[in-house]
Amino acid sequence: VRLAKYLAQSGVASRRRAEEIIRQGRVEINGKVAELPQERVSMQDSIKVDGELITGPEKKQYILLNKPPGYISTVKDTHHRPTVLDLVRDIEARLYPVGRLDEDTSGLLLLTNDGELAHRLTHPRYQVKKVYRAKVEGLPAEESLKCLRRGIYLEGVKTAPAGAEIVHVLTDRRESTLEITLAEGKKRQVKKMCEAIGHPVRYLKRINFAGLDDRDLPEGAYRRLSENEVAALYKMVKL
Ligand code: URA
Repeated sequence: VRLAKYLAQSGVASRRRAEEIIRQGRVEINGKVAELPQERVSMQDSIKVDGELITGPEKKQYILLNKPPGYISTVKDTHHRPTVLDLVRDIEARLYPVGRLDEDTSGLLLLTNDGELAHRLTHPRYQVKKVYRAKVEGLPAEESLKCLRRGIYLEGVKTAPAGAEIVHVLTDRRESTLEITLAEGKKRQVKKMCEAIGHPVRYLKRINFAGLDDRDLPEGAYRRLSENEVAALYKMVKL
């Protein structure tokens, strides 16, 4: 199989991330630095990533984590900050997050070693839905919410149609809670969208990812997906 696919199947990273890792010169095949993601490899080859031997396909794991603020959604951090993987230390697999939540954002984050599924869930083609609760300053006008629904320009690029509803308002209208539904995932998108309509986000939480939700999962806790939930994800991204 192609090297990038092999790394994804082995749970190293999503296919896209695996391609990057190869291009960064971090992968060795039989002692030689690999140059191309499409290089062919087999189980007989000795393959190392960052000097660590990869042992081939491992059991697929699907973990839904309720991320607290203060953790970053990367596998390794150069500044030794806590990462989401610190919260799932007892799981024996090379997990990585599917997409990202900002350090100060909380809520549902899927972790897996299923590279192909992760790749598709984050690919714009499949328009996977994410739902956020955003506490914002003030009370947005209906016209502003319409703008968010139709799409607005962020750094010259129009956002895709989104859901935007008010779900709670403080009596003095100093703060309100919006429910924002996105079918894409640009960096800091919810914060930028709310800022663009003049209502900066004070607190952000993701309450649904790709149809997965869990009101009973405490912050910092995680659970495994059921077989039905995994099957639904596969169907959603045509696997
Ligand atoms: N949008 C944001 O602004 N931040 C997140 O963490 C997720 C979506």
